[in-house]
Amino acid sequence: MNPFEERKKRQTELQSSVAGIKNIIAVCSGKGGVGKSTVAANLAVSLAKSGCKVGLADADVYGPSLPTLFGVDKAEILAHKEGERDLMIPLEKYGIKLMSIGFLVDVSSPLMWRGPMASNALTQLIGDTLWGELDYLILDMPPGTGDIQLTLVQTFHPGGALFVCTPQQLAVSDVRRAVNMFSNDNLQVNILGLVENMAYFTPKELPENKYYIFGKNGGKNLAEELNIDFLGQIPVSCSLSDANEEGVPLACKEDSPDADAFFELAEKIIEKTKE
Ligand SMILES: Nc1ncnc2c1ncn2[C@@H]1O[C@H](COP(=O)(O)OP(=O)(O)OP(=O)(O)O)[C@@H](O)[C@H]1O
Ligand SMILES: [Mg+2]
Repeated sequence: MNPFEERKKRQTELQSSVAGIKNIIAVCSGKGGVGKSTVAANLAVSLAKSGCKVGLADADVYGPSLPTLFGVDKAEILAHKEGERDLMIPLEKYGIKLMSIGFLVDVSSPLMWRGPMASNALTQLIGDTLWGELDYLILDMPPGTGDIQLTLVQTFHPGGALFVCTPQQLAVSDVRRAVNMFSNDNLQVNILGLVENMAYFTPKELPENKYYIFGKNGGKNLAEELNIDFLGQIPVSCSLSDANEEGVPLACKEDSPDADAFFELAEKIIEKTKE
């Protein structure tokens, strides 16, 4: 087999692992630290609670978050032989199939990977996992518009991209660049819309009040400017950040009003991805 044929065979192999997935959704942003992983994890839980079969893949090989967000310290990943291929069996927690580089290597020491190595590791991580039949595979993307994002999109062809921003994120150009990259003629990823994280604060003792501490309508205006749908606001929430630290996504917990925003987001995503 010449290198071209080998590459083609590998691409087909990788794609066959996601063939049983109805919708692959990339959760993206232009900037880091805006809450992509938090949104991806709680969206995955909310979709699962709505009765969907859901997988969640940590596409951030340099800073994986799933081990922390789902409280998985060390995982033993089992293999499954399928023909000539060894596929990894994803972990299952709260009814969601999970895969992260953090389950496979010790991420306390930095991963010294150059771009192509990181892209390769990531396509392997997602494409060599036994996802089976899923309604949704959520990809928790690393920030930006680099080689990793491009390779992922070209290999797995996500059907939709969901963007996360924060109100004080004045870097409209970063979000615009990311939106343009995903939606351009070559990649043609459907932009599902924009969600604004850390949009307002509601004190427990005043549940009807919303304080827009970082300014109002930043996300809405950004969505309008970029001509994409605005899919809602997620509050700044101590219970959300505590849940992240604790390793149990807030959307898994009963009686957590701050998680309502994720259920509303999940409903919109289901509506938008209906055949
Ligand atoms: N709505 C929120 N309320 C309170 N804390 C939040 C909220 N959203 C995110 N956080 C906290 O902010 C930090 C960054 O969130 P997160 O890791 O989800 O961002 P990210 O965009 O995935 O970052 P990175 O670009 O590094 O992958 C975390 O400590 C998280 O717990
Ligand atoms: Mg993240």
